Amino acid sequence: MNLISSDDLTKADIKRLFTIGSKLSSQRSELSLRSNTTVALLFTEPSTRTRVSFEVAVAQLGGMPIYIDAKTTQLSRGEQVGDTAKMLSMYCDFIAIRTYDHETVVQMGENSTIPVINALTSLEHPTQALADIYTIYQKKGDLKGLKIAFIGDIAQNTCNSLMLSAAKLGAEFSLVGPKGWRPKSQYYNKAREYGRVYVSESIEDGLEDADVVYTDTFVSMGFEGEAEERRKLFLPYQLNQKAMSYAKRDAIAMHPLPAHRGEEIASDVLDGKQSAAWDQAKNKLVMEKAILLYLSEVEENK
Ligand code: CP
Ligand code: NVA
Repeated sequence: MNLISSDDLTKADIKRLFTIGSKLSSQRSELSLRSNTTVALLFTEPSTRTRVSFEVAVAQLGGMPIYIDAKTTQLSRGEQVGDTAKMLSMYCDFIAIRTYDHETVVQMGENSTIPVINALTSLEHPTQALADIYTIYQKKGDLKGLKIAFIGDIAQNTCNSLMLSAAKLGAEFSLVGPKGWRPKSQYYNKAREYGRVYVSESIEDGLEDADVVYTDTFVSMGFEGEAEERRKLFLPYQLNQKAMSYAKRDAIAMHPLPAHRGEEIASDVLDGKQSAAWDQAKNKLVMEKAILLYLSEVEENK
């Protein structure tokens, strides 16, 4: 089993991940991976949280992480992704990969005999979405019936994965962005098969009575060339106190980090009482451990 798209997980898989996560969150957890489990972390793009939390997750579960900067591998000299997948499958037990091109991760999954975990592509960030929905679950309980609003760039990786996972668990998902800026149709259409998912350009309507308000950078990895236009286009959709005032009084504000204070989010929201961003970051470690343990369970029961 791979975790390449958030859609790879059924509702039952997510529930199981939450159960493992709850065990891990309790101090006395003694869960571990089979000894000597080796996890290749192959990254072509920068990362602070995902890289470090994965390395720590594997080490704390008794395994061995190997961080691989793709620039230092033969991939940078043209070796095919499929051949690389075959090699890593001979030496390791898991591959976690971060790279811009989603298709590369799909190819890695097709050519690998060990589980492949997407650690971010330009289209998805499924491990982040799991940390996010687990954070929502801890703070608000069952996601069924909650209203989650995503404001800003509604056509990017974090939004795509969160939309799928949240809709699958029965949350209402409100996408709020500038006129004419549409979500990625394959993700939007799929999420609409699972639940109530809709787009609005009005911040007031889109955030009205939301339990959760989520934002992410205006300039995702790979879009640096459009930075100036994007900042101009999305700035009216900044998550600030005014925007938060349309949501429920006890709503939480979420951001996967890294944040750009004064762009997609105001400092007083990110650092304020309603912010869940630091819990999300903490829960990356929990959910990455849960993913490794769950995928090991699945492999063992094959
Ligand atoms: N949220 C997240 O994925 O952060 P990094 O880019 O630092 O890994
Ligand atoms: N959407 C952001 C997520 C970073 C964790 C990006 O792709 O840069």
